Amino acid sequence: MANRVSVLFVCLGNICRSPTAEAVFRHLVDERDLTDLVEIDSAGTGDWHVGSAPDQRATSAAKRRGYDLASIRARQVAQDDCRRHDFVIVMDAQNLEEVRNVCPEANVHRLLDFAPEQQVRDVPDPYYGGEGGFDEVLDLIEEASRGLLAEVQTRLQIPAAELGGV
Ligand code: 4NP
Repeated sequence: MANRVSVLFVCLGNICRSPTAEAVFRHLVDERDLTDLVEIDSAGTGDWHVGSAPDQRATSAAKRRGYDLASIRARQVAQDDCRRHDFVIVMDAQNLEEVRNVCPEANVHRLLDFAPEQQVRDVPDPYYGGEGGFDEVLDLIEEASRGLLAEVQTRLQIPAAELGGV
């Protein structure tokens, strides 16, 4: 049985999708009183936005649903992340390839592997699209986060029923 589980969300820039996933998953974990048992972080495969706050459009869309991205700053994924995190969760196939190059030994999954009923496997990059793209990203992330939480609970050996299901 694991005492703690550590989850890293990864996208390209770490200013749209992965900080959103970090905030949504943290909200879910806090709601289930698992805050002390689950470590959550995010990073990007690229370095263009290192040190920047999340994209304003991502922050606003998340805020409308009650998620807070304010304290997140972009950073680039590093080799050390592979050893430190039990789950490395990427947004799309490109992230998957890049993370596997940096971290061949990491336990890497696409986020939508945890939303098997979705037709799409990649969380689309909303950066160059319109405002609606950020809500679509939130819909996908919210759904998959529930599936991921079930997996994390299994790792922690906490029966879903004990927490009222997911
Ligand atoms: P993200 O979105 O990977 O979801 O953070 C992007 C942010 C910035 C860029 C691309 C995608 N960019 O090319 O700067």
